[in-house]
Amino acid sequence: MTIDKHGDIRKIKSRLIIDNKIADNFITDSGDSYKWLWLPSSNAKHLLKMRNSVHVLSNMRNTQPITEEAHMEFLKKYDLLQRIDFILQHQDSGEYVGAMYISLTNHGFEIGKYIGNKNFLGKGLAFPMSNLFIDFIRNNVKEIEKIVAVTKISNFKNINLNFKLGFKIIKSVEEDSWLMELQ
Ligand SMILES: CC(C)(COP(=O)(O)OP(=O)(O)OC[C@H]1O[C@@H](n2cnc3c(N)ncnc32)[C@H](O)[C@@H]1OP(=O)(O)O)[C@@H](O)C(=O)NCCC(=O)NCCS
Repeated sequence: MTIDKHGDIRKIKSRLIIDNKIADNFITDSGDSYKWLWLPSSNAKHLLKMRNSVHVLSNMRNTQPITEEAHMEFLKKYDLLQRIDFILQHQDSGEYVGAMYISLTNHGFEIGKYIGNKNFLGKGLAFPMSNLFIDFIRNNVKEIEKIVAVTKISNFKNINLNFKLGFKIIKSVEEDSWLMELQ
């Protein structure tokens, strides 16, 4: 991973965590309100239940479930990682909905998203959730100049969603995926 080429976000990330700065809460047309949590402040069991659901794993690079032990190891080194992860929570019920994250990979600063809780799938939540996260990154993490996404060619839903968010397809990568770039 070439930090020189892509910038180092760890300093600003520590600042944002200390200040508990996070993306804006939002209310949908149905009147439901949603808020964000930094991943280290979230409940590990609830988070893993969403992250390990079959429809999420099948669209991830690593299709194996994340164990609690692996998650704890990840948390220990979280501050040192070139990544930012937010969890979305439904305010009234307290249920976890999904997550948005950005991490430095071989392709650059790559965005990821999932709605792991089936109660919240197919309700048009993915667009505002992604848009607010992107706004947050653009406004607060100036070190990230370009946002990319890598999505399986079969993941039509996510490809359409990314188009709606302003991404364009750049090229095919990793045999079965598109590299998309936010314009
Ligand atoms: C991708 C994901 C977040 C979308 O959430 P969702 O609740 O299913 O989608 P929404 O109902 O909010 O729809 C968002 C957009 O997706 C697209 N979409 C939804 N259903 C679709 C379908 N059946 N076919 C094609 N596009 C579709 C549309 O552009 C839609 O916008 P619209 O409502 O204006 O038409 C969710 O399906 C998910 O978590 N999938 C597993 C993880 C994943 O694939 N992550 C992406 C790779 S990191």
